[in-house]
Amino acid sequence: MKKNIIPLYPSSEKILEESQGCYQYDTDGKKYIDFESGVWCVNLGHSRPRIVDVIQQQSRRSIHQGYRFRNAEAEQLSTELQRIIGFDGGASVFLSSGSEAVNLSITMAQKLTGRKKILKISNSYLSAYGFGQITPDNEYVVCADYNNMDALDDIDFSEISALLLETGGASVGIVRFPSNEYVRKLIALCETNGCLVIAEEVTTGMGRQGKWFGFQNYEARPDMVVTGKGLGNGYPISAVTINSDTLDRLNDNLFVYAQSHQNDPLGCAIALEVIKVMEEEKVLVNCLKMGTYFEEQLQGLKSAFPVKIKEVRAMGLMLALEFQDSFDSTFINEGLFESGFVFGYKLNTLRFLPPLVITEKEIDELIGQLNELLEREGSLP
Ligand SMILES: Cc1ncc(COP(=O)(O)O)c(C=O)c1O
Repeated sequence: MKKNIIPLYPSSEKILEESQGCYQYDTDGKKYIDFESGVWCVNLGHSRPRIVDVIQQQSRRSIHQGYRFRNAEAEQLSTELQRIIGFDGGASVFLSSGSEAVNLSITMAQKLTGRKKILKISNSYLSAYGFGQITPDNEYVVCADYNNMDALDDIDFSEISALLLETGGASVGIVRFPSNEYVRKLIALCETNGCLVIAEEVTTGMGRQGKWFGFQNYEARPDMVVTGKGLGNGYPISAVTINSDTLDRLNDNLFVYAQSHQNDPLGCAIALEVIKVMEEEKVLVNCLKMGTYFEEQLQGLKSAFPVKIKEVRAMGLMLALEFQDSFDSTFINEGLFESGFVFGYKLNTLRFLPPLVITEKEIDELIGQLNELLEREGSLP
């Protein structure tokens, strides 16, 4: 087939035909188990029937609207997000992508504090462009060295508008979690120096780490929360939700910000259904249960192959298995994909962020295949 897509990131030659639940099917009829949830988006599985129904119903009513109106879906979604975040009397704005929401939250923090710089933990991603973009020469981004308590004393917090707190970097550091102690010190320094705390929950939020949001595992109390990905379960909607103090301050400093798909009713209706399904089907409980089970199975492989496997990292259903530096795992990446598993692979590490509705059956299939590949390649360089 002629290629018409600009190759901005590497992909295989396979063409995907259908995705349902935890499974994806290519045009050769081959089935894959998706341990990446698309790009960590379909926390409830692909094409979830209740989400498909809401898309159909809401589309018939109203997909998009202009600036002159408000809509009930956006109002309700803000209320629901505030409830699960733990805010009272705050507000939200809805956009399309995580990158947009991250950048808007930074703009808000800059306007509110009059400071230009932002602080992030070194292995956070933030956004594809703009203030959050990871470029070494971005003069506005200060990086706090991951889990290095002493290095925090060298940062000039008086220049920082906000800390963007990501409680698990899936892409840059490939699944590493900041320690509780480190996050506490970071937040204390922000509070003393008048920096806002923005929970950057684009990947860690909507249940990924076993609670609604990653910051809730650290008992942090952010001023703003940024969500995306799992919020729309595959449909592009993101949000910036702010607490009541921040809303009051913003009302005194309002600025105009307008995008075509801001607060669109379709995305909001979908996200409302996502929250409903998560609660009615106790998805957070399954996430914690399957996360523990998955981690135990990976630890079992580590015990069986200590010369090949260096470390297992996990929080909820965000997991990584890192190989020893002396072990070239390229063939495992290739073999596992060929056997019908979709996962992340980088820095000699396998990454797994499956749908939160995954079951032991799919995990067992992956572990069985991994075990076979690790046994097959008995010799080390
Ligand atoms: C932690 C985090 N923040 C922000 C983003 C950007 O979201 P989007 O790709 O929807 O713009 C991503 C994307 O992977 C992410 O992982």
